[in-house]
Amino acid sequence: MRTDMCGELDMSDVGREVSLCGWVGRRREHGEHLAFIDLRDHTGVIQCVVDGAHDLRSEFVVRISGTVRHRPEGTTNANLATGEVEVGDCTVEVLSAAEPPPFPVDERIDTDEGVRLRHRYVDLRRDRMQRNLRLRATVNSAIRGAMEEQGFVEIETPMLIASTPEGARDFVVPSRLKPGSFYALPQSPQLFKQLCMVGGIDRYYQIARCLRDEDLRADRQFEFVQLDAEASFASQDEVIEFITHAVAAAVEAATGERPGDVPQMTWHDAMERFGSDKPDIRFGMELVELTAVFVATEFNAFKADCVKGIRVPGGAERTRKQLDDLTDAAKRYGAKGLVWMKVDADGAINSPVAKFLSEDELSGIVAALEAEPGDLVLLVADDRRTVRHVLGLLRLELGRPPVNEGGLRFLWVVDFPLFEGVDDNGSPIPMHHPFTMPHPEDTHLLDGSPDDLQNVRSQAYDLVVNGWELGSGSVRIHRGDLQQRIFGLLGISEEEARAKFGFLLEAFRYGAPPHAGFAFGIDRLVAILAGEENIREVIAFPKTQSGGDPLTEAPTPIDAAQLDELGLRVLPPKA
Ligand code: AMO
Ligand code: AMP
Repeated sequence: MRTDMCGELDMSDVGREVSLCGWVGRRREHGEHLAFIDLRDHTGVIQCVVDGAHDLRSEFVVRISGTVRHRPEGTTNANLATGEVEVGDCTVEVLSAAEPPPFPVDERIDTDEGVRLRHRYVDLRRDRMQRNLRLRATVNSAIRGAMEEQGFVEIETPMLIASTPEGARDFVVPSRLKPGSFYALPQSPQLFKQLCMVGGIDRYYQIARCLRDEDLRADRQFEFVQLDAEASFASQDEVIEFITHAVAAAVEAATGERPGDVPQMTWHDAMERFGSDKPDIRFGMELVELTAVFVATEFNAFKADCVKGIRVPGGAERTRKQLDDLTDAAKRYGAKGLVWMKVDADGAINSPVAKFLSEDELSGIVAALEAEPGDLVLLVADDRRTVRHVLGLLRLELGRPPVNEGGLRFLWVVDFPLFEGVDDNGSPIPMHHPFTMPHPEDTHLLDGSPDDLQNVRSQAYDLVVNGWELGSGSVRIHRGDLQQRIFGLLGISEEEARAKFGFLLEAFRYGAPPHAGFAFGIDRLVAILAGEENIREVIAFPKTQSGGDPLTEAPTPIDAAQLDELGLRVLPPKA
């Protein structure tokens, strides 16, 4: 139907007869018998000069044939890739008429997201969505290439399964053949990829759909896609290398530039220096330890387990109101209060609490934070967890660049704790998942006190970019005895373990290779690469914040016959 794409015509095409297909964009009519039409396809827009085109309206689908010519002197458009040429002597064939679009395809006009999603097929015509979805395809393809280059085999794992323990709520699917029984949709292919290792696959990967019924946020959807991988006889460092290679290939395909080496940081350092297990290292403002400065302080608020501070360069200009707002924020994050100090031009400290602090304490703060005139310093005292948490959030609030600034700063965070706090029964909670191998130097602590347990490191690692958790992985436990022991510590009884993961434990009895793996979120990677704050912008048909799809109106009730067939009855909604 067409000889060329709209956005690809240029001076080298002048004189050629072309046929183009696309949608009618902007129209400018000159008198009764002449119209300038912007014809659009996914490659861009070309101006077509059409006689008697008055019945053409926005978003009509047309085929236009004509001759490419140089635009007359003074009418070229430098903002348009095809701006030096136009198609003249056009004949137009309407392939499909269109009602006026629910919103302009021109994306300079802001449109409510609900309306965009309700008519996603119109929204997809916009440049932004075209760019993002094509970028996503480029990333997927680069990842596939990189994994295959490294000997990984693509295996598809089932969608209708028994529950996978990733910590979120399952989506379930009722069984027709076994009424009263349900499949779970996979939260991840975790257990199947481990079974693949027992099955001798050696290196598995999958661009895997995962489903988790959790609260939706900018970086979370019910359905999302992971690059999921697992390797036998591989160490943590090897997995890190495989994944770094795949991510680098994706970034290179998307941006043309290959990222440099990815640094590593221990979880402990990340928490101490950034107050977060996913530090945004595009900017400094690190948390500085001040506990030693206040060992003998007279100031009650600072008689605490831990005192830390951050320095906000040039922050002394903040008004009293802004500082009060920061204090309120700190309290919302869990602090008892927030001390602020401005460093005046002469180096003197200006703070409502300065009078409670000794000269040594004041100079100790300035020295430790390397504070300079014009800076603002913020201090929090509390237990170590709270201090890190609160200052980590304030740091982000005050210093975090927009998503598309500061480049891509990848970071491996390693040596995560094996456990994270305790549940209502006093049993430790696995930080990653119950199949994570303890750190070899810490296995002796598994026999120790509850405090010892909280200090056990694991062989779990995360990949972080610009403050987003991109992915997680670990070396797995491949021996039944150690796995039983961890289940025991987690308060999972033998019966429960058998009921939930019996098939995995059984598989391990038949010769399980040591193995390790990883998964990263493709939606998140593509969003970062596209400079988008919300992963919905890189998903063709996402759900809204409340979990619905305004286009298909899912979720919808099903009819009585279908319920009956499934042996289900719907209760009236709870009050
Ligand atoms: P984890 O649960 O950390 O690990 O998930 C890995 C990555 O998947 C992405 N992700 C999501 N993206 C969008 N919406 C969501 N609701 C969502 N949930 C997770 C994130 C996250 O870092 N089986 C383990 C991996 C392993 O150990 O190999 C797992 O799934 O980018
Ligand atoms: P107070 O002693 O509660 O009147 O607090 C005196 C000042 O110290 C106020 O500015 C509080 O916001 C601040 N402050 C109180 N507790 C803390 C704390 N734990 N960490 C940091 N600042 C605090």
